[in-house]
Amino acid sequence: MCGIIGYVGEREALCVLLGGLRRLEYRGYDSAGVALQEKGRIVVVRKVGKIGVLEQELAGKTFTSRCGIGHTRWATHGVPADHNAHPHTDCRKTLALVHNGIIENYRALRERLLAEGHRFLSETDSEVVAHLLEGDGSPLERILRTLPLLEGSYALCILFAEEPGVLYGVRQFSPLILGIGDGEYFLASDVPAFLEYTRKAVFLEDGEIVRVSKDGWEVFHRTGEKCSKTVFTVPWDPVSAERGGFKHFMLKEIHEQPRVFEDTIAGRVNLARGEVEFEELEDFPLDFSRVVAVACGTACHAGMLGKLYLEDFVHVPVDVEYASEFRYRDPLLDEKTLVLAISQSGETADTLRAVELAKQKGARILAVCNVLGSSLTRLADWTVYTRAGIEIGVASTKAFLAQMTVLLLFGLFWGKRKGTLPPGTMESLLEEMPTLPRKMRTLLSREEDIHVLAREFYLFKDFLYLGRGLYYPLALEGALKLKEISYIHAEGLAAGEMKHGPIALIEPDVASFVLVGQGERRLKVLGNIEEIKARRGKVIALCDEGDGEVRGKADYVVEIPKTLEVFSPLLAIVPLQLFAYYVALEKGCDVDQPRNLAKSVTVE
Ligand code: G6P
Repeated sequence: MCGIIGYVGEREALCVLLGGLRRLEYRGYDSAGVALQEKGRIVVVRKVGKIGVLEQELAGKTFTSRCGIGHTRWATHGVPADHNAHPHTDCRKTLALVHNGIIENYRALRERLLAEGHRFLSETDSEVVAHLLEGDGSPLERILRTLPLLEGSYALCILFAEEPGVLYGVRQFSPLILGIGDGEYFLASDVPAFLEYTRKAVFLEDGEIVRVSKDGWEVFHRTGEKCSKTVFTVPWDPVSAERGGFKHFMLKEIHEQPRVFEDTIAGRVNLARGEVEFEELEDFPLDFSRVVAVACGTACHAGMLGKLYLEDFVHVPVDVEYASEFRYRDPLLDEKTLVLAISQSGETADTLRAVELAKQKGARILAVCNVLGSSLTRLADWTVYTRAGIEIGVASTKAFLAQMTVLLLFGLFWGKRKGTLPPGTMESLLEEMPTLPRKMRTLLSREEDIHVLAREFYLFKDFLYLGRGLYYPLALEGALKLKEISYIHAEGLAAGEMKHGPIALIEPDVASFVLVGQGERRLKVLGNIEEIKARRGKVIALCDEGDGEVRGKADYVVEIPKTLEVFSPLLAIVPLQLFAYYVALEKGCDVDQPRNLAKSVTVE
């Protein structure tokens, strides 16, 4: 959602803050601001618009401060405007803070503060915290006194004029990480903000407060007691937070997928023994009677595919639910239910709340997550990491591939141990698996063909994505990618459902991206293509290489190298992502920062 960065050390703080904000811009980008401790007072500069606008505002101004905070915003309370941008200050500018999250009881607090004579400059929920922090006592005492008044979620980073060179961070249901450099420290909502300087990090827990100066750091619980914390080394390479010659992060991340697949299976697939192993799952019981997958967005589509893998390989019933629905129901769960929580960031608020609810009801939690130490991994009983590396493009690509891969491996792992895997399945899958990166690279090498196709279609206003079986979740994901970054209306549909309504939409200016699978479903999908063509709709068909019949029916064909049916989604996703990318590019859209979206939705 919003991005937070704080710095204290020997460098010029502004430079570090702006660099950090650039790396966090994927979390929100409707306004940005910084606050610096300059010669005993707090200076705030904030502007509506992307970070470039803030940089222009700062150009030519000289700041010497070695301590400051910054924020990039994704508006929740108060429209994007200069006065609603963070940092916020109290009436006398004795302090400045940045906030990620939502203070749910801000209206009541604001009324009270107004009655006490406070004057507000913004419509945000965040500003109330700045006013509450005014008053007597040391900064730490004031923070400890204020936290019990706040309801909702917050990660805060605070500067006090009276304590030069000191930063405070507070975490409650919103991520905040301390980066530990050599005589310098960073506070950030996400690791990429400081990865260029250090890989050492401390993950704050809910209810913790950190005080940082260039001489060191201490963490306190909200009761005021000191806490001891573990310093982790983040396994990410700083270069992974760079675009590396690609025009957009999304394109770079699409191209990383062969490597992501290799990393995700590394050490987990033992070809010699014909086994799939997860050292994280040593004590995983095999006797769950049911699985419920909870997730949002792209991760939920991975969950839908995971259902098909698990039901096939493990013979366990799987329900898939949007976390935002699940958490507001009274779901039927017990200790025999495994809740599979899938999330790239591990910070999506709805997914976290769904997991908390499931835990209360006695279910056990397996997280499939990409971010080390994220909130989800701390709630889960087991975590299997997807090894996609940092994903920066707002539209998730390589994380989806890694999620599909983990779920497939997990199905094989569990099915083999439970004895439900059909004979010969493991052997044939493990034989084919090492060929997949090469096949993905083949697809990537045909990128220009997809670009040409995108030029044919970028002016269309409506798209249907149709698929059956394993290709149904992919149809949903293909449609989601297109709408996220190109703003074209796109619907993903189970192809068999087309005749129950959506077929009424077909006309010459509606495009259908039809995913033709294998086996008995193939003929059914060919029938769907006929139905669309009979109504003069345009068809792009995705099919296996050499499928002459599809070529004869569709207007355009995208071929994927032949593979076993279970693996076909891992290949088919590549052209779907590239198509969405190039359509958005042709339309001139901002691919890495699509309008209204944020990478991690850490608010509800
Ligand atoms: C946001 C992002 C999506 C992502 C979803 C779930 O909506 O824009 O790309 O799929 O959140 O995120 P998660 O981090 O939980 O996978």
